[in-house]
Amino acid sequence: MAALDNLSSANTVTPDELSFNHDAVLLSEAVAAVLGVKSLPEDSLQATGIYVDATFGRGGHSRLLLSQLADDARLIVFDKDPTAISVAQALASEDSRVTVIHDSFASLTTSLAALGISQVDGLMADLGVSSPQIDDGSRGFSFMRDGAVDMRMDTSRGQPVSAWLADVDDETLANVLFEFGEERHSRRIARAIKEMDSYTSTLALAETIKVAHPNWQRGKHPATQSFQAMRIFINNELGDVDSFLQQSIAVVKAGGQLAVISFHSLEDRRIKQFLQRHSKGQYPEDEQLPIRPDRPRYFSKPRRVGPSKAEVAANPRSRSAWLRAATRTDTVANPTEDKQ
Ligand SMILES: C[S@@+](CC[C@H](N)C(=O)[O-])C[C@H]1O[C@@H](n2cnc3c(N)ncnc32)[C@H](O)[C@@H]1O
Repeated sequence: MAALDNLSSANTVTPDELSFNHDAVLLSEAVAAVLGVKSLPEDSLQATGIYVDATFGRGGHSRLLLSQLADDARLIVFDKDPTAISVAQALASEDSRVTVIHDSFASLTTSLAALGISQVDGLMADLGVSSPQIDDGSRGFSFMRDGAVDMRMDTSRGQPVSAWLADVDDETLANVLFEFGEERHSRRIARAIKEMDSYTSTLALAETIKVAHPNWQRGKHPATQSFQAMRIFINNELGDVDSFLQQSIAVVKAGGQLAVISFHSLEDRRIKQFLQRHSKGQYPEDEQLPIRPDRPRYFSKPRRVGPSKAEVAANPRSRSAWLRAATRTDTVANPTEDKQ
């Protein structure tokens, strides 16, 4: 873990890095949810306590959250992406309430423990990629802009997609395209990718997938699902989300809030099932059974919020977003006595 606590020396953000903007999705809705209020007041709530933004990005949610916090509150921000971390450090150098952690939110418990924190009042995440990551072709996330076939959120560690593609066999590749991209034509796309001479250009990769794809849909690039699959796989996105959600049970204090925004069904389904399980006591192994009152229920009934028509019109990227939020309950020793 690299805890970058208000270090001004490393705070240089180049104009290039700032030229890519990110419009925060479900901005006031998510910040209200993590603060446990229905809507934000015009002035500041002056909330006290410790809050976590697990996906800082360009800090849209963090900045609004800070505007609602008291001077003695704390905000811990995580991101995997070195450029996001540079922006976060710049913010931390101006606002002593902010602490920056360059790591996956899957390190939540250990990273907070290193700061002497075991529990927090509010925990939020806005999953997936940021617009600056997609807009910068050199990162390899875009099938519309040329760049290296990288797709790592944390370019300081791990293997780029190009290296993985060079080694992987057809069958494993097809399984990844199917599992993480729900790509029905995964086998023939995998074969075509493995016939490529090199993996140095995202546009060449996208073109290969396009040629191999038998079923183009109007308005959707045929490489959309395959690119999503490779990105999710190389960044272990679903594994990180599962780990983060599981840790939230211990990290969010009783009465505190969990708020998570997701952009595709693979993630949203996990968040929905996690909150269902831990609010209703409905565990996967109990699927065929009636709800068991002896199962612990750690969260209140979850709320689901989508973007307004106005937000979708202003920011089309928000159209697939869902915010799911719940309050950590005061877990009772005998949940049958929990009257919620
Ligand atoms: C949708 S953007 C967040 C945007 C942010 N809410 C804002 O207002 O600017 C998602 C961010 O999460 C980061 N990210 C994705 N997975 C992560 C993980 N497992 N741990 C930490 N950061 C992650 C990405 O690098 C990206 O910067």
